[in-house]
Parts: sequence; C-alpha cells; structure tokens
Amino acid sequence: MTQEKTFIVNPGGSLHGKLRVPGDKSISHRSVILGALAQGETEVSGLLEGEDVLATVAAFQAMGVAMQGPHRGKLAIHGVGLHGLKAPAQALNMGNSGTAMRLIAGVLAGQAFDSELIGDASLSKRPMGRIIKPLTDMGAVIHAQQDGRPPLKITGGQSLKGIDYRLPMASAQVKSGVLLAGLYAQGKTAVTEPAPTRDHTERMLRGFGYEVTQAGATASLTGGGKLTGCHLDVPADISSAAFFLVGAAIAHDSELVLEHVGINPTRVGVLNILRQMGADIQLMNEKTVSGEPVADIRVRASSLSGISIPKDQVPLAIDEFPVLFIAAACARGTTILSGAEELRVKESDRIAVMAKGLRILGIEIEETPDGAIIQGGQLQGGHVDSEGDHRIAMAFAMAGLRADGAITILDCENVNTSFPGFDVLARQAGLQVSVK
Ligand code: S3P
Repeated sequence: MTQEKTFIVNPGGSLHGKLRVPGDKSISHRSVILGALAQGETEVSGLLEGEDVLATVAAFQAMGVAMQGPHRGKLAIHGVGLHGLKAPAQALNMGNSGTAMRLIAGVLAGQAFDSELIGDASLSKRPMGRIIKPLTDMGAVIHAQQDGRPPLKITGGQSLKGIDYRLPMASAQVKSGVLLAGLYAQGKTAVTEPAPTRDHTERMLRGFGYEVTQAGATASLTGGGKLTGCHLDVPADISSAAFFLVGAAIAHDSELVLEHVGINPTRVGVLNILRQMGADIQLMNEKTVSGEPVADIRVRASSLSGISIPKDQVPLAIDEFPVLFIAAACARGTTILSGAEELRVKESDRIAVMAKGLRILGIEIEETPDGAIIQGGQLQGGHVDSEGDHRIAMAFAMAGLRADGAITILDCENVNTSFPGFDVLARQAGLQVSVK
C-alpha cells in the first residue's frame, strides 16, 4: 500500500518550552498483554495510543478481553486470567509492530486454540525465526513462511516445558516472548542475554505479583503462577523524547524540558551517547513510577563532536540511531557506529535508509555491515524517503533545524505507529514542519 503523508520542514529555528511526549511504546504493549492475562482489573494511564499499541489492544479484544478506552491515555482492562483467552475469529493483525508479534507469539504458544499472526508489508519481511526457535524448543508448534517470515500459524493445545535459553542476539522482544510462554510452561524458563536489553517485562511481571529472578544476565520464572491486576502509570517514551533531545542539542539557542520520561537504565544509551558527544543534558525530579525510573530531562544547545560509539551502548539506544545519525551529521568530526547489525532488520534497514537520505542532504556517510561512519558537515535541503519507517521520518524532520534549505520527507504515515501528534508537538516546540 502506498502511504502518502509528507513532512515539509523549513530550515532553521530552535526548540523551546516544556513538552510531554506520548507514552512508552514497549511499556504500553506489555501493560495491555499482562493486564489481559491478569485476574481482575488493570487501570493504565499514560498509555501510548499509537497504531502499534492499538494492534495489541485489538488482538486481546478479539480474544475476548473487555476493555474501556483507550481514551486520553487511560485504559481499563478486565483481565481474564492466564487461561481465560478465547479463540479469535480471524487472524490477528499486528500491523507494523514487531514487538506485538514477537511477544504475543509467546502468549499464543501456550493457548489451547489455534491462531494466526499477520502484519503489514514491513512486518511481513521481518525475521521471526528468532522467536519461533525457542518457542519450538519449549514444545510450541508454529508454522511461518519461507525464512521464518510472517504470517505465523500457531497450533494450540501443546503442553509447553520450561527451557534454559541463551539468546543469540540482544533482543528484548525474544526474551519477553520466551518469558511469556514460560508462564504457561511446566517448570522453570530461563533466558540469558548476550548484552543487557530493556527489562520492562521482568519489572512489570513483578508489578503483577509474579516472581521473576535475575541472576547476572539470566532472567527466569516458573510456570503455573498467576498475575494480579494492578494500576500502571506509563512514562513518556525516551525513544520519542530522543527526537527532541537531538533537535534541541543541535539547534542554536534551544532549551527544552521533556517531562516524565522513562529513564530505565536499559534505555538510556541515547543520553549517554549524546553526553559523550558534548550535549548539555540534565536530569531533574527523578522518581520511580510503577516500578520504572522516571525524570524530567533538560537539554540545551551545544556544539557536538563525533565519537566512536561504545559497543555496550548499542542495545541501550537501539531505536535511537536514526536520530543519532542526525546528531552525528551535525557534529564536528567523525562518528563511528559498529556492532549495530540489528538496525538492518528493524521497520526498515535503518543503516541503508539513513545513509541514502543523509547523502541526499550532502553528508558523507559510509555504510558498514554493522554500522556506519559519518562525517559531520553542513546539511542541505532536499527530498528524502523514510521508506515507511516512523523513526526515520521523525529523525529527518529534526535535521531541518540545521539544514540550509527545506527538507521534504516522503512516506510519513507510519509516524502514527509510535508518535501520534508528532508534527503538532514539534511545531509547538519551534520546528517549522508542515504536513501534506
Ligand atoms: C522492543 C525491543 C527492541 C526495540 C523495539 C521494542 C521491545 O527490539 O527495537 O522497538 O519492546 O521489547 P529487539 O528486542 O528486537 O531489539
């Protein structure tokens, strides 16, 4: 399907004020999934009402879970318990969302009924073998298309057994899918990761009263317990805040405060990397909300320098590289990214699509199999294509702050998957963006 929405960004300007970006996407998905599987009511506030999360909401509604909302970030979920889901009448459509597909696959592996997961053109190209393999080891029966691509057909009625799984790649989605299947498995399910990835599933399971043990790099739980409904306050998404963090860092005279942002240590790579490049970033009002650390983040314009991005920061900033490439393009000197091959299997091949767009805007960038080498320079105006990738669309929008001509960004419809209202909030802060 051709998506038509176009962003046009006039050059220059600066960012000011206090903003609250929408709710965290990862935490929102998990709140819907665990709320549906819990016994009793779960009240969520701050939920992201983006298309990805709405796909998760619709999937559980199709499996008989009653919900009120979402409306203004509030969602009431009448949990049906771990064994209360009903067979959906048709295939469950995960839209653009890899998180929804991989996490829900873990849940469906443990059900008594058959199910099918489908997605849009982008999701249909993404690798699902990484979740099919451990779930199959647990006893699940899942059929995918060639090379482990969606749709996934899951045959219900299997009895799952716990496994001790060593993840071949740093993936919170796979870790979470396996742990969710572990709720239905006999005995203990343990997942060991090669590098720390977001731990929202582990934290939230504990919030629902389910014991999860963490020993070094291994998270484990034992099947057969129950989840108890609770109240959840979803913080603002640091991955959405990241566009404004970079925008304010690169645009002269900017000063912005981003309110109530989740600063889970497994998500703060963008703060660490930007600070190492010389950004002026301060955390204020730090507190813990629903088991997640939260803060207001103040960022001021500063002059950035290129760096070699530490490899241990890569999984902690995995969704922020499109906009970090813009920061690198505006920095003095060279920025080198490696160890980021996962970027090639996101909503688009983010290394290739960013490199293509930055070259159009006059920046020298060399692609490597697992990263890029970016020379800071002067951004020019031009027409770039986001190739339907929400984060690439928003990253190039921020580039307008330092460009010497207008930037037109094609295929921006999918910004709604993670950041509905991005253009309105960005205009409010000072970005000269219009939508066609
Ligand atoms: C997510 C995990 C990450 C991230 C994605 C959301 C999650 O993917 O890129 O946007 O909510 O667990 P991987 O775990 O595949 O790296």
